Amino acid sequence: MAQKLYIKTFGCQMNEYDSARIEEVLGESHALATTADPACADVILVNTCSVREKAEEKLFSELGRWRRWKETRPDLVIGVGGCVASQEGAAIWERAPFVDIVFGPQTLHRLPALLDRVRATGERVIDVSFPEIEKFDCLPRPRAKGPTAFVSIMEGCSKYCSFCVVPYTRGEEFSRPFDDVITEVVGHAEQGVREITLLGQNVNAYRGAMHGGGVCDLAFLIRYVAAVDGIDRIRFTTSHPLEFSDRLVAAFAEVPELAGHLHLPVQSGSDRILTLMKRGYTAIEYKSKVRRLRAVRPDISLSSDFIVGFPGESDEDFARTMGLIEEVGFDASFSFLYSRRPGTPAASLPDEVPLAVKKERLARLQNRIAENARGISEAMVGQRTRILVEGPSRKHLSPLGAGPHHHPDQVFGRTENNRVVNLCARGLSMGGDLSGRDLIVPNFIGQFVDVVITEARSHTLLGVPVSERGNDEGLARPVAAA
Ligand code: SAM
Ligand code: F3S
Repeated sequence: MAQKLYIKTFGCQMNEYDSARIEEVLGESHALATTADPACADVILVNTCSVREKAEEKLFSELGRWRRWKETRPDLVIGVGGCVASQEGAAIWERAPFVDIVFGPQTLHRLPALLDRVRATGERVIDVSFPEIEKFDCLPRPRAKGPTAFVSIMEGCSKYCSFCVVPYTRGEEFSRPFDDVITEVVGHAEQGVREITLLGQNVNAYRGAMHGGGVCDLAFLIRYVAAVDGIDRIRFTTSHPLEFSDRLVAAFAEVPELAGHLHLPVQSGSDRILTLMKRGYTAIEYKSKVRRLRAVRPDISLSSDFIVGFPGESDEDFARTMGLIEEVGFDASFSFLYSRRPGTPAASLPDEVPLAVKKERLARLQNRIAENARGISEAMVGQRTRILVEGPSRKHLSPLGAGPHHHPDQVFGRTENNRVVNLCARGLSMGGDLSGRDLIVPNFIGQFVDVVITEARSHTLLGVPVSERGNDEGLARPVAAA
């Protein structure tokens, strides 16, 4: 029977991307089959995040659970990878001596050799070096798992924001060559992928070497990706506002495949705090970039990261953040309490703000953005929008409060502004005139479909497909993308 691999992933989309590559690399080298149940795995890996202390603590509590299995099954191999491994290195063994492999974000392609060494010698191994681009050269061709895919285009970060460990754990910025990125995108398109998200910790710092000499920036790369047959929607994340260039604004104006959504982390609305964070822009500069973008894409949806309770954040500083939220009208946020990261410059700043005050501020900020997002969802009701159908609905629809409805023909897709729409294919008394007609909904998977939104729920929308001639026939056809 094939041996099994379980991977637990913490943190960002870069880590999700890396975990998918680990599955592929060990699937190819050791025929390891991925399992969702760690209890029956032969190899357990954890891909860690050290951006906040909490994520780090979660790693050690998870490891505690696996230690007991290792005691009864000494052949079980346990590995720790990602940013905590990179930062702590061999110190991981002080708290968890039973871990067999410690590997960094840039050495996951060496896992087959590391696994062989552990099995051959019974000794623990570590490799947390930064061999830069070698990782991508040694990975198998990515396997598509649906109509959407991530493509990592650059690694690391050289911005050194005063609060952040990423430049130390993932190394300085380096970009994958242009040809490699395009080859990966084409490979996905050939497997039916329709939407690509270009990934990097600081993705708009992308400067990929081109084969004829010269350098390609993100704006240029987007145009090439849009030209790949089959790729009809493009996203990119995460962007630093400092490098959100006019060339990117022009790409939003001229490339219809570029989704009308942008994640542009501002962190704070106070210039004093932004300076302490070493972000390199002021609130006005941030707003001016948003204004230029909205001039070419008036209905673009914007999301941001916020750090609440940065050392010394006063009521006035926080009020400025809330003011910026009012002005910009963010659609979503990833907002967290500041977490002190040893070794970063901000770790030594004095901080007298009580935790209770920080928590109350965070709750206010999150409530305000949730309210805004609700307003945007409600305004979408009755509107026609285009979704990319990704697969069967994860939760069955419950038509107008009638309890779970186990309908086999329900699928979900995502709008440009990143909302999940559950598609009520047969009408289901949701309005429209679709009742009872047969739609071959599974054909929609992997297709762009025009829908009318019928209801906004707390985290999702409901919709019905519309035919190209309106919603009069009860027939829906997948449509070509924009
Ligand atoms: N490149 C992005 C940018 O322009 O800001 C951010 C990537 S960073 C890994 C993701 C997010 O983690 C940041 O935007 C920040 O909000 C959050 N973060 C990083 N360090 C943090 C810390 N020490 N405490 C709380 N949140 C933190
Ligand atoms: Fe971190 Fe700032 Fe880079 S938040 S990932 S150092 S842009």
